[in-house]
Amino acid sequence: MSDQMPYVLVLFYSRTGQTAELASQIGRGVARVNGIEARLRSVPPVSPDTKASLPAVPDSGAPYASKSDLADCAGLAIGSPTRFGNMAAPLKHFLDSTGDLWLGGALEGKPAGAFTSTGSLHGGQETTLTTMMMPLLHHGMVICGLPYSEKSLGTTETGGTPYGPTHWAGTGEQQPLSSHEKTLCQAFGERLARLALKLSD
Ligand SMILES: Cc1cc2nc3c(=O)[nH]c(=O)nc-3n(C[C@H](O)[C@H](O)[C@H](O)COP(=O)(O)O)c2cc1C
Repeated sequence: MSDQMPYVLVLFYSRTGQTAELASQIGRGVARVNGIEARLRSVPPVSPDTKASLPAVPDSGAPYASKSDLADCAGLAIGSPTRFGNMAAPLKHFLDSTGDLWLGGALEGKPAGAFTSTGSLHGGQETTLTTMMMPLLHHGMVICGLPYSEKSLGTTETGGTPYGPTHWAGTGEQQPLSSHEKTLCQAFGERLARLALKLSD
């Protein structure tokens, strides 16, 4: 890693903006820690027409991630809306393209965690988070969750789990992030940033 500021990569896919909102709150938590910054990057939708080429830069929101964004990060937070209790295909598609990084051990020993947004309260937040941890473990990363010393974990009536930050968006009008969900996102970002600095020493 050159003399650039170390960064936590907040890598996510979001179709209707809820997971993107979680990502920016996590970025605010990282920003609380001196000596490290947050880099927000998204992944493009997977096109049914595999030959279709997407514009290099999305119309709005975080730029698309490159593999060097991932290889050079000091810590990683991956986020996806829940799809049938699992991560969405665009994020899995990107992770499945990182075999070369796995081969070179680029992410080994770095801290990482996951976040998700769901339509229903009990429709797969935990299964999505724990299955998103599998590729991170295969890359030899150190999993970071949220401890119960975070009081919001015990009082939240919306999202937030010890496995990572979550948002309950609802199935009708999309609910904004609750104060507990924001608090837990920021606490997670700060925790991941501190771990990244400790582990990169
Ligand atoms: C194909 C599909 C599958 C979904 N599966 C689930 C699910 O298993 N459980 C759930 O609670 N919500 C499910 N949802 C709802 C999304 O997870 C929810 O709307 C999420 O907040 C969207 O996040 P985004 O705004 O970042 O795209 C599904 C949505 C779609 C389109």
